Amino acid sequence: MKLLLLTSLFLVASCLPDRTSLRFDDASPRLNTQTRETEIPDEVDFKVLSEEILVPKCISCHKGFTDETRILKHVKENDPEISPLFQSVKTGRMPKKAPPLESRELEIVRRYVESVRIERVVTYDELKEKILVPKCIECHKKSGEETNIMRWIDQENPSESKLIKATESGRMPKNNPKLSAYELNLIRNYLNNFRK
Ligand code: HEC
Ligand code: HEC
Repeated sequence: MKLLLLTSLFLVASCLPDRTSLRFDDASPRLNTQTRETEIPDEVDFKVLSEEILVPKCISCHKGFTDETRILKHVKENDPEISPLFQSVKTGRMPKKAPPLESRELEIVRRYVESVRIERVVTYDELKEKILVPKCIECHKKSGEETNIMRWIDQENPSESKLIKATESGRMPKNNPKLSAYELNLIRNYLNNFRK
């Protein structure tokens, strides 16, 4: 009897690890899908913004928000900090008469503001202050002067310049995180100065 009890205890115990690992196997695919669902693309376009935010949360009051040009009136220089579209939701002022957006939703709005193409004049000085000095000059010591970055600019075809190709691909800044959509747009606008 004692022996039987011991044996059965042993059996139960030896079964446990199996069951635990089964449970892990079972749970991991679900975990993966969840991560995928919450992943937000680096570049958020108007379609994603509409589906995830505007249609469910804004359009009941802002009928005009089906039109991207109406949204763009509330976006300034790809900069969320000065763009009413982002500020209105970040502060919780919008959506009016509804709970504030959750952090994932705020992130979608922020990335849209950063990645939508807004053309404006970006001078070399602004490029230097916002990108070259903080992100490049430690390795490219001479990039603090415009003449020295000319070899990265294709004057015939500015949008194909090494300056944007190397950063867009994430190859540069070497050994550092990829530039943000805001920073890449700043480079694209700087390169527009060379358009004929
Ligand atoms: C219940 C109605 C309602 C909903 C829902 C709503 N808004 Fe508004 N929104 C308004 C009204 C009314 C104004 C005019 C200014 C005011 O009263 O604050 C406004 C103004 C704005 C403005 C310009 C003024 C400012 O505050 O910067 C922005 C930008 C804006 N809304 C964005 C949004 C976004 C984005 C959503 C969805 C996440 C949204 N709104 C949802 C009613 C609404
Ligand atoms: C940690 C050092 C480092 C940093 C930071 C860095 N670079 Fe580079 N970069 C290099 C090296 C080294 C090369 C030589 C080619 C290589 O190794 O890929 C290079 C080459 C380049 C080239 C030409 C070759 C190519 O890949 O097209 C461009 C353009 C460039 N860098 C742009 C930038 C810009 C713009 C920044 C800042 C946003 C930056 N780099 C930051 C180290 C760096």
